[in-house]
Amino acid sequence: MTRLRAAILISGRGTNMSAILEAAQQSDYPLTPVLVLSNRPDAAGLVHAEKAGAAAIAIDHKPFGKDREVFERAMQTVLTEYKIEMVILAGFMRILTPWFVRQWEGRMINIHPSLLPKYPGLHTHQRAIDAGDSEAGCSVHWVTEGVDEGDVIAQARVPVLPDDTAEALAERVLPAEHKLYPHAVKLAASQILARS
Ligand code: GAR
Repeated sequence: MTRLRAAILISGRGTNMSAILEAAQQSDYPLTPVLVLSNRPDAAGLVHAEKAGAAAIAIDHKPFGKDREVFERAMQTVLTEYKIEMVILAGFMRILTPWFVRQWEGRMINIHPSLLPKYPGLHTHQRAIDAGDSEAGCSVHWVTEGVDEGDVIAQARVPVLPDDTAEALAERVLPAEHKLYPHAVKLAASQILARS
């Protein structure tokens, strides 16, 4: 079976990354996460990635200052070195330039902690609570130039409970993310493979 060579991009603890690394152990999974890339050298997820057998590399965005594209060109060099065919954003907290998005058009996906198109951007859980929504959740979508705007691949829903706090709701959504993302990654990878 052909398996895509995938990179997972993280900025922090990487629990979604771990869920994907685990799922990729299955023999019929359509990709191998060969590389985990972080924009923060202290990201806890890097340690887990290495333990799971992926190459774990940090490219600190700070020395690049405000020049997002130069930072992304450094990432692109590493992605090319590792012959990456699909990019999976998993809690990668940098806004991407149109240049980088174009390099990965139709080959890059993201998980976002809201029921898109509701609440793109930050503070999604608080915004769902403030709006009086009865449900919240998470979405996996193709990455396009508009932030959190690309076509949705899959979503999972959880209830919003009376007296919920943003933290309590985030804790309820996270396990739903861990189930959803490996499944949506598989769907997206199969689509990429079918196109090539
Ligand atoms: C997840 O909740 C993910 O949906 C969110 O960051 C968290 C990362 O957790 N992503 C975004 O907000 C992207 N806009 P993790 O590092 O434990 O996977």
